[in-house]
Amino acid sequence: MTESEKTYQDAIEANIAVHSAMADEYNTAEPHFREESVNRVKSIVAETIKRINTDHVLDLGCGTGFMINILKSHFSNITGVDVTQAMMDKVDTSGNANIELINSDTGSVKLAENHYDFATAYTFLDHLYDMNPTFQNCYKSLKKGGLFYADLSPNAYFWDEIKNLDPQKEYDEIIKREIRAVTAKDEEIEAQFGIKKEIFTQAEHQKHVEGGLREEKVKADLEAVGFKNIQFIYHWYVGQAQLVNDKSLERSVRLERANTMHHYLEKSLPLSRHLFKYIGFIAGK
Ligand SMILES: C[S@@+](CC[C@H](N)C(=O)[O-])C[C@H]1O[C@@H](n2cnc3c(N)ncnc32)[C@H](O)[C@@H]1O
Repeated sequence: MTESEKTYQDAIEANIAVHSAMADEYNTAEPHFREESVNRVKSIVAETIKRINTDHVLDLGCGTGFMINILKSHFSNITGVDVTQAMMDKVDTSGNANIELINSDTGSVKLAENHYDFATAYTFLDHLYDMNPTFQNCYKSLKKGGLFYADLSPNAYFWDEIKNLDPQKEYDEIIKREIRAVTAKDEEIEAQFGIKKEIFTQAEHQKHVEGGLREEKVKADLEAVGFKNIQFIYHWYVGQAQLVNDKSLERSVRLERANTMHHYLEKSLPLSRHLFKYIGFIAGK
């Protein structure tokens, strides 16, 4: 095994260790399962699939079925792929859709070619040591005209700015919280789930080692395997959590203000790009 094959395999083993430990509490611990977050993804999916057929969908790094739960009301056939069996054991396979779950690495899994109308990867790509084999597999498995939607990966431009701040200086809690997320997240996970910091770092290689996903690089990598018409999505701006959780305001007022702010920051892209924590994209075959 070469050094890079070993690190590729190490990232997979680290992911299995981390996600096997987290599987039982995953759906309640992870904020993307909150109603407003699910609603956002539902509306992106509903809008995006207007352009395609809805026979077969592929969910890469499906975990406990966050995307599958949304996709099952649109698609007749769903394939989920994940390396952690303990996560896939939690997938709710009820409903009318045929749901097939494959325990495999998304970079090496053998999938039917020119078969899927839609592919998804939610809060997943940053867990890969190398995203390119997964991009290639995804491209081959999609039908011509099919779409690939990926979302909730760490935005490198945001993390660059946070890392450039002097942690000794005084900042508002909005900023301090983000600095802590860079410096102490792995320690929190170690305390909560008993997973060693090094393993956690390996399990999120694209975030902790590469510093997040960078639009230009992702675009070049996607285009290199054949994807086109790539549209990037930026989500969750700095301070949004404080605004959404501001108990001095009615919930509906908080959510409306948060959406208004998002709207203006989105209009201000690419200038505002570094203010968003997450990046996603929709790419076509
Ligand atoms: C943060 S979870 C996201 C799960 C789900 N997509 C969601 O939105 O809740 C990342 C998932 O990726 C899986 N994973 C990590 N590396 C993988 C790989 N190389 N191939 C397939 N799955 C992988 C993990 O087992 C885990 O279930």
